[in-house]
Amino acid sequence: MSVVALVPAAGRGLRLGEQIPKAFVELGGRTMLARAVDGLRKSGAVDRVVVIVPPELLGSVKADLGRSHDVDVVAGGAERTDSVRAGLEAAGDAEFVLVHDAARALTPPAMIARVVAELKAGSAAVIPVLPVTDTIKSVDVLGMVTGTPLRSELRAVQTPQGFSTQVLREAYDAGDLAATDDASLVERLGVSVQTIAGEAHAFKITTPLDLVLARALLDADS
Ligand code: CTP
Ligand code: MG
Repeated sequence: MSVVALVPAAGRGLRLGEQIPKAFVELGGRTMLARAVDGLRKSGAVDRVVVIVPPELLGSVKADLGRSHDVDVVAGGAERTDSVRAGLEAAGDAEFVLVHDAARALTPPAMIARVVAELKAGSAAVIPVLPVTDTIKSVDVLGMVTGTPLRSELRAVQTPQGFSTQVLREAYDAGDLAATDDASLVERLGVSVQTIAGEAHAFKITTPLDLVLARALLDADS
């Protein structure tokens, strides 16, 4: 039952605002991408990793991370879904795939292992989640509030998200790919998605404040 992890790292990182694509920003001397790949390896639950990078960095990443026997490198696309689709094409005959943002560089390996364990126990789709602490409102284009979903029923969603490879391929073949996570595409097929407990350290490094937090956490550990 082989497990391939797809690591989308082809984004531009506009909200982070650094001069280079976000996944290549360094935390404590190593790129977010290298740390994300390392976490997947340390989980002991992943057989192969496919990293998906900006096309102009394909050569340099192949010459670096791509030298490892368990890492393949492919070029991503304009939207995250384009990048994941490119990764899926390189996933071969893996039974399960994980999709894991390079930007979640500090994800605890034990959480990754829990996602895989849940897949192997029979779930076709598994996502790590946390309760939300802010109250969330929906608003219209004018900024007027249109509703307040019950907070106790809301969850913030992390990665890695785990899938039966066949199910995720079906979801990507189904067409309409506007989505901010992969599970939502699978939900549209009517497939049940199992949640498991996420971890604070699996936060996505999105803004400059997140970068400060990530670096502080690494400093505190060293
Ligand atoms: N990603 C990708 N291909 C894209 C867009 C995003 O592989 N076309 C990846 C990013 O590299 C990141 C993950 O998807 O690891 C989550 O996306 P996000 O945090 O939004 O990163 P960016 O798109 O790079 O950031 P921003 O939206 O601020 O530009
Ligand atoms: Mg983005």
